[in-house]
Amino acid sequence: MAEPKKLFIRTYGCQMNVYDSERMAEAMGAEGYVATDRPEDADMILLNTCHIREKAAEKVYSELGRLKPLKAANPDLKIGVTGCVAQAEGAEIMRRQPAVDMVVGPQSYHRLPVMARGGVEAGLEEDKFEHLPARSRAARAPAAFLTVQEGCDKFCAFCVVPYTRGAEVSRPAERVLAEARDLVARGVREITLLGQNVNAYHGAGPDGEWSLARLIRELAKIDGLDRIRFTTSHPNDMNDDLIAAHGAEPKLMPYLHLPVQSGSDRILKAMNRKHSAEGYLRLIERLRAARPDILISGDLIVGFPGETEEDFEATMELVRAVEYGQCYSFKYSARPGTPAAERDPVPAAVADARLQRLQALLAEQQRAAQEAMVGREVSVLFEKPGRAPGQMVGKSEHLHAVHVTDPALRAGDLARVRITASARNSLAGEIAH
Ligand code: 5AD
Ligand code: SF4
Repeated sequence: MAEPKKLFIRTYGCQMNVYDSERMAEAMGAEGYVATDRPEDADMILLNTCHIREKAAEKVYSELGRLKPLKAANPDLKIGVTGCVAQAEGAEIMRRQPAVDMVVGPQSYHRLPVMARGGVEAGLEEDKFEHLPARSRAARAPAAFLTVQEGCDKFCAFCVVPYTRGAEVSRPAERVLAEARDLVARGVREITLLGQNVNAYHGAGPDGEWSLARLIRELAKIDGLDRIRFTTSHPNDMNDDLIAAHGAEPKLMPYLHLPVQSGSDRILKAMNRKHSAEGYLRLIERLRAARPDILISGDLIVGFPGETEEDFEATMELVRAVEYGQCYSFKYSARPGTPAAERDPVPAAVADARLQRLQALLAEQQRAAQEAMVGREVSVLFEKPGRAPGQMVGKSEHLHAVHVTDPALRAGDLARVRITASARNSLAGEIAH
């Protein structure tokens, strides 16, 4: 029998891309492709790209330049560009780099197998959700992502998502439930519901539209599913029902990623965020009232056009008030086609200095949140072996990575762990007996 064809996927960017890469691997698996982590062995290479912050397109072109010589060694090698850069640049990619055989935007992944058979084609803009083949029946890692919503209608002034991922679309509730049941049947115990603006979810249900809170309540009824998370949310879609769910639904984990972007009302307005710093703080208060130990995470941008020292201080003030358990922070980068890209930039040195100050504060808050876990008993879902012999790594309810050395542990075990130490980005502990 001939050797199976090999597929190499390089994934950039967000969890949505990680999920999409998995689905593309499964779709190509149905065509007989097996995964490889060596591009030089591959018969098909996909670069699943991200456009959100960096000079993504240039990175993709230079990576393509590096991959091109592989075509000389394997004339049957197919190279494809997928994801948001594919959506934004379109067929221009194939013109600039003839080694590329396929350009596929996020809405057209279901056409990937056909395109792989047929060769050159640009597939952009179509509904992808219901066309991909059902996931293969193979066993799965204990924690999985499940896309429930895509795209965004918010149009924050800095962001490319509404242009690259398109308008907000929610999957029908019953499809989501069916996919979740299938995941659980294959060993999944934790599901993270994904969407660029996931709490705007309003999928069609059997009795009218379902909110995200309703979807979570129904998912929680699935036996064998122990943990539910969702990401990423917009403050304005954080409705009462969803806040209440954090107090009422034990399977919903005490962790929320709720980006605020800035603590200055002037900048929030310029960003078209449509919420105030005070409004955000009130939301956090209500979430903590519903679930006192909830760990809050977020995203912040420094150096947005027009940001003064005073605006930046307001961001620092908000961060002190929230006390993030974990938070991402970025230096603003102009994305072509977005309204903010037309505005005068903050000098790079000023933005760099602000980012450093902000990150020092956030690192201190993260350290404090982790330290607070030491001595406590937490529940950990173990996912994979760690670096040390006999060590397993899992996630706590608060999404802390936890290392435990115990030869009896297996991936998929959910165990009580006593936390003994806090490191930079993880905790260590031992099984509580
Ligand atoms: N510059 C810097 N950060 C950005 N983000 C999105 N667009 C930009 C940009 N142009 C950040 C936001 C968002 C996260 C996913 O990426 O904080 O929440
Ligand atoms: Fe981008 Fe998020 Fe704003 Fe939507 S809500 S435009 S995805 S930053």
